[in-house]
Amino acid sequence: MTESESPIQHPDRNLALELVRATEAAAIRAYPFIGKGDKNAADMAAVDAMRAFLGTVNFEGLVVIGEGEKDNAPMLFNGEVVGTGNGPKCDIAVDPIDGTSLTAAGRQNALSVIAVSDRGTMLDASSIFYMNKLVTGAAGVGVCDIRKPIGENIKALAKAKNKQVSEIVVAVLDRPRHEDLIREIREAGAGTRLLLDGDVAASIHAASYGTRIDMCVGIGGSPEGVVTACAITAMGGLMQGILMPRDEQESKRGIDSGLKMDYVYEATELVRSDNTFFIATGVTDGGLLQGVKRKGPVIRTESMVIRGRSGTIRRIFADHHASRWA
Ligand code: FBP
Repeated sequence: MTESESPIQHPDRNLALELVRATEAAAIRAYPFIGKGDKNAADMAAVDAMRAFLGTVNFEGLVVIGEGEKDNAPMLFNGEVVGTGNGPKCDIAVDPIDGTSLTAAGRQNALSVIAVSDRGTMLDASSIFYMNKLVTGAAGVGVCDIRKPIGENIKALAKAKNKQVSEIVVAVLDRPRHEDLIREIREAGAGTRLLLDGDVAASIHAASYGTRIDMCVGIGGSPEGVVTACAITAMGGLMQGILMPRDEQESKRGIDSGLKMDYVYEATELVRSDNTFFIATGVTDGGLLQGVKRKGPVIRTESMVIRGRSGTIRRIFADHHASRWA
């Protein structure tokens, strides 16, 4: 039976364009909080807006990756069902702001993000907070491997990209846990792009053509890892992730929920479908997307929509009537 004959509805192109309204809304509602020092208020405003817009979209989205457990997150919690209930059944991962601290500080590279795939295909990695990740563009496929020392991966990628090792730029979250990793990258002869926060934007950068970042590595959030996988599979890049439990208890919780420890998840295991969508709107300005801007009577947003089936990346600029968002 072909997909068009199947009684099961799959997420389609129109859904992605509907969902971009939700990331736009989250970014617009976060805008007044940029640089105001209150990351929770910014996040709350984005969550509220995203949830309200998701409620108007014709689909049945099961939140696989949300704002946390039901008791801690009043809305968009893992397991919540969003949408009108009509239309395709999907898994959905939401990150109303990736970079809440960046937003509160008025720094660059905060995004509002949604990823969608066919129902039952997104890995629920929520019981393990951190994931060690390696992301590159297509040039790294079959060339780099998270099991290899970082220096080897840098040299191999430089060769595959026909670049000098000294031209390779590796993005890493600037955290004490990455002290050795950062030293090894520099000893290999490559440069670092140290991230204050926001490894989703940096990963997509690394997988894009013609950007200054060649690779994104290191330990970041595992929910962000699954979200990133939806984009990277569509972009034809390389992504691998190893879950990094913080203690025995967390490890046990992960194993009990069916997750594998000491195991390299390929992007196609983080999301087991090519029918994926990745949708992001810039909250603050960044290399990937421009942030929300007020221009006289309009509020301008820039978003990207990546479709897994085709690999097409669309950029959408929208001018919203500011009076309607007052
Ligand atoms: P939030 O904005 O949701 O807090 O996430 C920001 C972020 O930097 C992610 O991009 C990254 O994966 C994770 O936090 C890293 O976690 P930590 O700050 O604990 O190192």
